[in-house]
Amino acid sequence: MVEIKKIACLGVGLMGQGIAQVSLMAGYDVVLVDIKDEFVDNAYEGINAGIKKVESKGGLGEGVTSADIMTKCSKSIDLASAVKEVDMIIEAVIEKMEVKKAVCKTTMDNGPDHIIFASNTSTMSITEIGKDSGKPAQVCGIHFFNPVPLMRCIEVIKGASTSDETFNTAIEVAGRLPCLRGKRYIAPVLKDRPGFIVNRMNAPVQIYMNYIFDKAAEQGIPWEQIDADAGDLMPMGPTELADYVGLDTMFHVGNYYAETLSPDFKPGKVLIKMVDECNLGRKTGKGFHDWSQGRPKIDKSKKAGIFNLENTMAILLNEGCRILEEGVASGFKIIDDANMAGMNTPGPFGAGKKNYAQWAELLEKLADETGKDYLRPCELMKSGGFTKMRK
Ligand code: CAA
Ligand code: NAD
Repeated sequence: MVEIKKIACLGVGLMGQGIAQVSLMAGYDVVLVDIKDEFVDNAYEGINAGIKKVESKGGLGEGVTSADIMTKCSKSIDLASAVKEVDMIIEAVIEKMEVKKAVCKTTMDNGPDHIIFASNTSTMSITEIGKDSGKPAQVCGIHFFNPVPLMRCIEVIKGASTSDETFNTAIEVAGRLPCLRGKRYIAPVLKDRPGFIVNRMNAPVQIYMNYIFDKAAEQGIPWEQIDADAGDLMPMGPTELADYVGLDTMFHVGNYYAETLSPDFKPGKVLIKMVDECNLGRKTGKGFHDWSQGRPKIDKSKKAGIFNLENTMAILLNEGCRILEEGVASGFKIIDDANMAGMNTPGPFGAGKKNYAQWAELLEKLADETGKDYLRPCELMKSGGFTKMRK
């Protein structure tokens, strides 16, 4: 197995910063790479502040200081030269296939023979990203959840050409990356399908959410009332979470699923408008909510009565069954556990074992109401066949 000592984190925005922080905390040498000096400088400061915070709580381990760790962190705005001496690169650039393919090719053309390219794509085909790189066996997925230092889950994805050696090395590296809240959970993803496990299962919830956002806009319902509908059962309500993830990411992801899974995933009117206006959520300070002063205080005292959390559980169960049908995960326990570790919300299979028949009816009604046939229940859900499958 390749020994990993130095990691390049490419694209040090929201996700890349978190990935670099936990990589440094695991003891790796890290080079931060982006397209402008100000981006790498800003990331360096953010990472330094994060590690100092851990230090202030005594979380770095005996005799280890944030200053020691930061000596292992360097910066670059030239990918070709930055990868010359790294063993692994984790990319978190914008969610666009042509950009991911281009940086993968540059990495393989300029890095050492053994270099591993791991993509943090939310949705896209690992096989396609690596296809024209010259070394597709050394390309895999390593998918983190936002915020990286606090969310336990990392999915490691095997593309059609990924070698066992690459896959196993990525699993080992992922397992070494510390999590500030609870124990890291590594979910092996056995088949390269859009969205992998957690995002794929949650993807059709966005079909429903686009419908709700557009309906709220038409009826003049304030966004916070949608989050109030979700109550305290989600750590962040749907509009806050969308802002937190980034509305551009949601937009690109929706378009990718529209091409790969069903046209029903096309972004709705509200999402398109916000992206057009460059109101991308937390990263630009404005989206559904105002983030200019930090996390918004969302008034959940009044409900809209248009968003039903039970519908989302039914949608999750249906998509979880599709994941099982396609052989993306080896059993439903991994799917539930990965959802809990990646989103801090329970997966659907536990409650779904009792409720699948009733939830299948809910989905038929929802598909009629929204005109989105993708929401109709699949056979494995309707029949309850998943209850007889391997856990
Ligand atoms: N370094 C060091 N410490 C950090 C840190 C960092 N980088 N980031 C946060 N912390 C610290 C904070 O300073 C805080 O410390 P104190 O308690 O001492 O103040 C502590 O960690 C907790 O931070 P928060 O107060 O911000 O945490 P919270 O309790 O409010 O929880 C949350 C925040 C974990 C984000 C929670 O709201 C949550 O679970 N939200 C849902 C998030 C989610 O669903 N993520 C997945 C999105 S989908 C995705 O990521 C996949 C994709 O491909 C799009
Ligand atoms: P972001 O916009 O915060 O950061 C992207 C960074 O990539 C920016 O700093 C940008 O300057 C840089 N970049 C763009 N093109 C580049 C290039 N050619 N070379 C080097 N750097 C380049 O985005 P983000 O939210 O961190 O998302 C990054 C990736 O992570 C996307 O693929 C996204 O789907 C995925 N992801 C996002 C989340 C999330 O919740 N935001 C969660 C998991 C995975």
